[in-house]
Amino acid sequence: MKDILNELERRRDIARKGGGEKRVDSQHAKGKLTARERIDLLLDEGSFEEFDMFVAHRCTDFGMEENRPYGDGVITGWGTINGRQVYVFSQDFTVLGGSVSATHAQKICKIMDMAMQNGAPVIGINDSGGARIQEGVDSLAGYGEVFQRNIEASGVVPQISVIMGPCAGGAVYSPAMTDFIFMVRDSSYMFVTGPDVVKTVTNEVVTAEELGGASTHTRKSSVADGAFENDVEALYEVRRLVDFLPLNNRSVPPVRPFFDDPERVDPSLDTLIPDNPNVPYDMKELILKVADEGDFYEIQEDFAKNIITGFIRLEGRTVGVVANQPMVLAGVLDIDSARKAARFVRFCDCFEIPILTLVDVPGFLPGTKQEYDGVIKHGAKLLFAYGEATVPKVTVITRKAYGGAYVVMSSKHLRGDINYAWPTSEIAVMGAKGATEILYRSELGDADKIAKRTAGYEDRFANPFVAAERGFIDEVIQPRSTRRRVCRAFAALRNKKRPMPWKKHDNIPL
Ligand code: HXC
Repeated sequence: MKDILNELERRRDIARKGGGEKRVDSQHAKGKLTARERIDLLLDEGSFEEFDMFVAHRCTDFGMEENRPYGDGVITGWGTINGRQVYVFSQDFTVLGGSVSATHAQKICKIMDMAMQNGAPVIGINDSGGARIQEGVDSLAGYGEVFQRNIEASGVVPQISVIMGPCAGGAVYSPAMTDFIFMVRDSSYMFVTGPDVVKTVTNEVVTAEELGGASTHTRKSSVADGAFENDVEALYEVRRLVDFLPLNNRSVPPVRPFFDDPERVDPSLDTLIPDNPNVPYDMKELILKVADEGDFYEIQEDFAKNIITGFIRLEGRTVGVVANQPMVLAGVLDIDSARKAARFVRFCDCFEIPILTLVDVPGFLPGTKQEYDGVIKHGAKLLFAYGEATVPKVTVITRKAYGGAYVVMSSKHLRGDINYAWPTSEIAVMGAKGATEILYRSELGDADKIAKRTAGYEDRFANPFVAAERGFIDEVIQPRSTRRRVCRAFAALRNKKRPMPWKKHDNIPL
């Protein structure tokens, strides 16, 4: 019996060594952790249950029958993050470059199927040379099976991708279909075609980092949701994110202990809005002052900064925040901000996360660039996302809510449940100056008259009371009591049920 047990341990030891000391050293030399070290940091200590440790590929071409390492380049299984179950796969670059064979893909598919059946998130750590070249179409078939599961799992369990090495070619499409992608600066990249092919086809000279590094994907392409300095920071932040999320679409987000009084008033908010309506202020200050313990997990922080998206907790419960940022482009809506916020709203809605919308928006960004690039279609995404979202929706207008953008930003008309406005709100078709110049075009030469007309328009519309008279605003609230009002609003909406008409699925403008 002892020999049998020793034999098991001997085999386990071999599997745990991955591609051997030299390749592990080379992984470390690149500033990267190994697949197993990453799992250890991601999960609660000692919680990892591994599957398929002894799986080996079945390829017999190109001498591969001589090289059949245990695990086949990916470590899979489940464990816990702060006591809550998650499934995980971690590609092992030290074993055949983490390349994807038929069996490697089968291992990933197995845990994805289990995650869907058991209702727990899937976290994929990507570090791979792509399709196992020796296997040809068997590898492509494997990818296809993973893709299909990404699609089926979408909206069923949260899916998170962490890119910690190469991720190139069609392989990028698995992370691309997950809910969140995080990257590590200088050691990870994602692209459909690499620098060499780009050079051959378009004559552009570009490095892998410039083409598909963390900075490119968090600032330019918006493919990734966050960039971190190293593996340790990235994995720590994934743990933090998971704490905000429900395990699946039939459960609710976890309720965490909170130490921040929901009745807390913050007098400093009474002076957040500058006297001059054209002077910006930082909307993040409001988010932090409303949130439990000032804790905010921002998503896509470096992209389309004119809108802020992320998670906070109120009375220990997760709330998704969407907020215009007056500090950037005056908080205007444009293609990028609409797409960013729309995807976030849809994530919240599929996982029953209530949405808090903070509004200070002067309208949509004008210009040929926006129109030619399809601001009509992209702006419609956000409108559509808000209108179809049936989770509790609470809105606070702090200052400007002009024109179409007023309607889009979770207004009452898109079934906002509880809509508040600060007394500093201006809810109108447009700003007073623009409105006066259109209404009184013939008087434009007379500065005194125009100033009077502008003041008249401001008196009439630069306030929340016209909208409040009509019930489009449920209540005008003191800025200082925003946290208290918003906490009470969400508490009142906890049992909200709002059925929508039956349909197979909608046809959101893509
Ligand atoms: C088999 C691979 C491999 C692959 C790497 N290796 N990629 N083996 N199939 N795709 C092996 C190498 O032979 C090497 O083995 C080990 O992994 C480490 O690779 P190195 O090249 O030494 O590492 P490095 O210098 O860091 O370069 C990493 C790399 C490079 C840039 C990823 O390996 C590379 O260009 N690989 C090929 C990438 C590729 O063209 N993949 C196919 C893409 S198409 P030893 O034994 O020496 O340690 C694709 C389509 C997906 O993925 C389609 C989905 C539908």
